[in-house]
Amino acid sequence: MPTILITGSNRGIGKRLAELYDAEGWTVIAACRNPNSADLVGEPLTLDVADEASVAAAAKSLAGRPIDVLWNNAGVYLDKGQMLMDLSAQEWLETFRINTIAPILLCRALLENVAASTQRKLAFTTSKMGSVALNSGGAYAYRSSKSALNMAVSSLAKELAPRDIRTVVMHPGWVRTDMGGDEADIDTNQSAGGMKAVVDGLGAGQTGQFFNYDGKELPW
Ligand SMILES: NC(=O)c1ccc[n+]([C@@H]2O[C@H](COP(=O)([O-])OP(=O)(O)OC[C@H]3O[C@@H](n4cnc5c(N)ncnc54)[C@H](OP(=O)(O)O)[C@@H]3O)[C@@H](O)[C@H]2O)c1
Repeated sequence: MPTILITGSNRGIGKRLAELYDAEGWTVIAACRNPNSADLVGEPLTLDVADEASVAAAAKSLAGRPIDVLWNNAGVYLDKGQMLMDLSAQEWLETFRINTIAPILLCRALLENVAASTQRKLAFTTSKMGSVALNSGGAYAYRSSKSALNMAVSSLAKELAPRDIRTVVMHPGWVRTDMGGDEADIDTNQSAGGMKAVVDGLGAGQTGQFFNYDGKELPW
């Protein structure tokens, strides 16, 4: 059976993704910061995505092991509800480290694992809030971190297409998690199930697209 590595798999959307893949018999590598304190589904892997030493240690422990889907899901939304006068440079940088830079460096660290697999897919949980076309204002750090993630993945898609490694960025919907809150539109099952179907369906040469969780294409 194929193997998937999911970051931020201890709660929210990441945990539900782990449950769905596990239910289909995949080998799930459940990456999170504190595996010992979490009720994880799958094989635990300690990984703080923003810590380069942690990424290097995880890559070393996985050397030579094919990973069919590397799903960059971990993220933070530190400036929820904030506007111009609330901006903190430190918080903005932290948001970029986790949401934008870390997923790309993790892809680089595990590139040969993905290249050695059968499915060769890089999935990213981004946000519609990173769409310039759909912007309704505010949340400067979070929005720009996801826009920048989308751009970086677009470059990654172009660079890795000759190796038939497929990338996709997806908006999970507004989801009832710690981040989305109780008033959100959908539950983790609908979100993760929809995105999984998108990733399952990525065909040969299909790379560098931006989808909603229900499979509709979104504007950048
Ligand atoms: N919920 C929504 O409505 C919504 C909408 C659009 C996009 N998203 C995106 O969906 C993804 C998952 O969000 P969620 O709603 O499931 O949020 P969540 O319930 O708040 O979970 C966030 C996950 O990210 C992990 N994480 C944060 N920083 C990390 C780090 N440095 N290293 C490793 N893991 C880290 C958290 O781990 P800890 O437990 O260790 O903190 C947790 O597992 C995020 O990328 C988010 O931006 C969510």
